[in-house]
Amino acid sequence: MNIQSCAKLNLGLKVTGKRDDGFHDILSVFQEIDLADEMHLASRADGKLRVTASDASVPDGRENLVYAAADRLRESVGRRDLGADVAIRKAIPVGGGLGGGSGNAGRALTALNALWGLGLDAAALDALAASVGSDVPFFLRGGTAVVAGRGETITPIAADGEVVFVLAFPGMSVPTPWAFGKLNMELTPGGPYIRFLNSVRSSGQVNLLDLMQVVENDFLPVVSARFPSLKRILAVIRDGGALCASMTGTGATLFGGFEREADARLTVDRLQDQGYRACLSRPVAR
Ligand code: C5P
Repeated sequence: MNIQSCAKLNLGLKVTGKRDDGFHDILSVFQEIDLADEMHLASRADGKLRVTASDASVPDGRENLVYAAADRLRESVGRRDLGADVAIRKAIPVGGGLGGGSGNAGRALTALNALWGLGLDAAALDALAASVGSDVPFFLRGGTAVVAGRGETITPIAADGEVVFVLAFPGMSVPTPWAFGKLNMELTPGGPYIRFLNSVRSSGQVNLLDLMQVVENDFLPVVSARFPSLKRILAVIRDGGALCASMTGTGATLFGGFEREADARLTVDRLQDQGYRACLSRPVAR
């Protein structure tokens, strides 16, 4: 079975509190985008799980989120005899806040549920996904969603408004626990983004162009203090006419949301001229 595994952008990311379980509560719009890895999955009957990836920085074996997802899936039905070969051709940069590994794990859960003929329902897959990683449940459905809690409270949203994204990859990866540890929680109360999302959640609809006006990522001050080159990239994106220039997840991938594709293309060219890896991307609707 061959499938695509898309990346996500966090169109805003606020941390709203620290939880008793050591994780943090977040509020974010997760947007699936058309930057995608290719996955090939085949079932095997000898109980072996083999996960390989084209990018050497992806861990293989037990450290891989796809391996963890497959292992938990077969455990949950008491079928250790089930095995699989999974080969991932990576296009999504690893450790960049784009949810590449989480997406691979979410897609693998759905695909193996079918390949192995298990027939688990959506609630069972949701619980398995959350046990693999905070961002995995979103990828069971994708599209556009307001995400809260640790990542498991997902409200699917109908999105309109044509936005073109410019992605810029600064080349460093930010360890998620480090970024959470550096947050100054006192700096993150209410504000326009949270008010906007509350109305989006109650209406079930968002205009992506309007959303661009209020995007805010609590991790951006922390990560750009550590990596000052991010500020230069954000300035190029802003000067190119973006409605917003921000960061996805805990970084370090930066993005701009553009209304005009011509402006977005020029901005990609400018970033590439300055030696940065950059590309265009569009939202994926489900
Ligand atoms: O769930 P995931 O494996 O992505 O989380 C990695 C780390 O990021 C956690 O161990 C925790 O330190 C931090 N985290 C958090 N709150 C979240 C998500 C992640 O504190 N909502």
